[in-house]
Amino acid sequence: MVDCVRLAGACGAEVRGLDASRPIEAATADLLRGWLLEHGLIIIRDQDLSKQQQVEFSRLFGSLAIHPLAHQVDDEVPELLVLDSHGKSGTMEPENPEELAGKIDWHTDLGYVVKPNYAGVLHGKILPPEDGLTGFVDRQATFDALPEGIKAQIDGLTVVQSWRHSQESISKNPAFRSDEGAKVMSLDLFPDLGFPLVVSHPMTGRKILNVSHMWSSRIVELPDEEGAALLKQLLDHSLEERFVYWHSYRLGDVVLWDNYRMMHAAGGTLGKYRRQMYRTTIDGDCELGGLPIDREAIAGAQERIAALRAEMVGR
Ligand SMILES: [Fe+2]
Repeated sequence: MVDCVRLAGACGAEVRGLDASRPIEAATADLLRGWLLEHGLIIIRDQDLSKQQQVEFSRLFGSLAIHPLAHQVDDEVPELLVLDSHGKSGTMEPENPEELAGKIDWHTDLGYVVKPNYAGVLHGKILPPEDGLTGFVDRQATFDALPEGIKAQIDGLTVVQSWRHSQESISKNPAFRSDEGAKVMSLDLFPDLGFPLVVSHPMTGRKILNVSHMWSSRIVELPDEEGAALLKQLLDHSLEERFVYWHSYRLGDVVLWDNYRMMHAAGGTLGKYRRQMYRTTIDGDCELGGLPIDREAIAGAQERIAALRAEMVGR
């Protein structure tokens, strides 16, 4: 009997009684899709999925995205990324064995494009003895908890989600990762776009506080200083302890999150320890906004991304 129990922490739920490696009945698949929408984050313990089994399981939630730019795409199963702290082959020597590597600030995946992916799936295959956590914040809960006056003030405003902003933050804070993937993602691929600061979830209609530390750079309608102060207030609010859940992996965990709704972060792993996760990504076919701030730059970027995708699929 498959059931779903809310986690004691800030957000998320655990699905119990499921073997995700086996074919899943239609009724159970419906339950899983419903639980993902209800909780935003679901965790299934004690799984041992092959790459192909993870792909099949992930397809229950929608068609899978092939990451356009990632250097970690698996050679045999292109829908799957192998995120390995010691490189794709697992043999890379760490530069700094005693320092945290792979730390990533709070973000939603592809939060700076018109149609970000709907969901992500991580499956822990090799775990470090410490650290290696993934953080989650439910941005539906952060919106709901705002004072009514602020809700009214921010509804209708536009936030710029900016790849450039993330790269500037990374360069100021060396603790955050700037990996090979980031190097190929040049600024002209991802021009700044404006999004509703309060966005409605495309599948549930629930309101979401659409900010993240990595992408949110300014508020279009407000003078710079006033916008920066509001943004800081909203970002600080989002990281209040009551909203933050850090998932500590057990071997075999499968973690799924609704990327429209949750923001996430990587806590990093000491260089000397190996951490390997299988990652699949469920495509999004909904536009979350994307006010063109520079139309020409966007048209050019779309062509360049299409060319990169074609290259990736063709290899
Ligand atoms: Fe991410």
